[in-house]
Amino acid sequence: MKKSRLSRRDFMRVLGVAAGTGVIGCGGGGRPDTGGGTPPTPVPPPPTPVPPPPPSGTVIRPDVMSAEGQAMVEIYSRAVGIMRGRAESVATSWLAQANIHLNWCPHGNAFFLPWHRAYLHYFEEIIRDAAGDPTFALPYWNWTTHPTIPDAFWEGPLNDDTRQIRPGQPIPPRYVGPNVISDILDITDFETFASAYVDGDCSPSSDGKEQRASCGTGRLEGTPHNNVHVEVGGRRPPVGNMSTFVSPRDPIFWLHHCNVDRLWATWNLRHANGTNADWSDFEFQDNFVNPQGAPQSITVSQTFKTADLGYTYDTIPAAAPEAALTGGTATVVAQAEAANTAQARAGSPIRISVDLGDELRARMRALTGPAPEGAGRPTVRLTIGGIEHPENAVPVNVYVGPAEAPTGGEASPSYVGTFSFFPIGEGSHAGSTSFLFDIGKKLAGGSGFDASGPLHVHVEPQALAAGAAPEAAPTTITPSLIRVEIIDHG
Ligand code: C2O
Repeated sequence: MKKSRLSRRDFMRVLGVAAGTGVIGCGGGGRPDTGGGTPPTPVPPPPTPVPPPPPSGTVIRPDVMSAEGQAMVEIYSRAVGIMRGRAESVATSWLAQANIHLNWCPHGNAFFLPWHRAYLHYFEEIIRDAAGDPTFALPYWNWTTHPTIPDAFWEGPLNDDTRQIRPGQPIPPRYVGPNVISDILDITDFETFASAYVDGDCSPSSDGKEQRASCGTGRLEGTPHNNVHVEVGGRRPPVGNMSTFVSPRDPIFWLHHCNVDRLWATWNLRHANGTNADWSDFEFQDNFVNPQGAPQSITVSQTFKTADLGYTYDTIPAAAPEAALTGGTATVVAQAEAANTAQARAGSPIRISVDLGDELRARMRALTGPAPEGAGRPTVRLTIGGIEHPENAVPVNVYVGPAEAPTGGEASPSYVGTFSFFPIGEGSHAGSTSFLFDIGKKLAGGSGFDASGPLHVHVEPQALAAGAAPEAAPTTITPSLIRVEIIDHG
């Protein structure tokens, strides 16, 4: 399989880290060795090749903080005001658009990314129509580079007075920081990145819709996506719109999802989507509406190319080689599981030890050395599974490696990540839910894992946000199944 590789420069651009500065170009000896003494002479950045224009009819979705983004926000605000003025019975009204999410949105499975991509696409057309501006492109909220809700969203039609977050209050970096995002973009396994296929392992949705089964929440959904929702809307009832099924009532929802979508497009620059045909051929039947209010259907594979939906992002290099959008194969070559009945809650973490068995142990031992660069590193998928969906969106830290409980949160070498739940409050998904992580890099990088014994997994719920009322009964979670799998990629 042909894979395109991002240069470090492109990668930093993708993260939005170096946007608008001259400090890029640190990869591969572009700077003279000043050897001490003489002050470094600034080297002008290499000329940026003029990118070919995007295919006509393709809009470029901008960062909301850029000049283009601010121009789009003005159009957006006007259109949202118009949509808010329409009656709920009108399919293109603000409330009817949020009801689409209430009735159809998939979470915790691999329909999550394509469904929300399609949802944004039809919404963008409705905004264009309402604003009478065919050039409108939905801006994205890059919470990595700008972790506070942009100012314009605290006034007029873009405000939502149900938010629990305050103006100027940042989303913490353990959910959206550059390290988390680059770890996520490095995941090779499609399901670990994008959430799991709907299959026999899933907990069916209470409304019986196949696309809404709860199967396994991947890293993009479980960490930045879920945590941003509940940081904005609040982690325990009574919560604001953003923590619920009607989160699209908050105008920031669309910019949040636009960034999630951008990260999928970014991941596709280096990784192919999975090949499960039950997934890629699945049709979201009449889930959406066009600007005339007519029902619209789309299949998963029809969402793969953003250009087919008329857009790209300002961080996607225009000259990037065409990404291999499908063809990622994944084979589980070894696995082990452990059952658990212990409850975890804030201040009372649990440890679950997974006996690896000889085959898995041998493969894990091979992984604890440095990974051969570029040579298709296998994924070590950790599933924290069988959790009954709690009432509160407690953030949960996960660590792997040593037997004794690690401390220090993100600073611990054994820290894997922090997942949270979404949605919460009334009507949230019944049934059980799971979260997926790739722990391969962690195990290779001195987590304290000793391949001669079991793999210890620590699950540590965090106290709900400081400043909130004290918890009468702290949220407990019981992951009833822990699974470790080694996955080879073709
Ligand atoms: Cu369907 Cu971020 O929500």
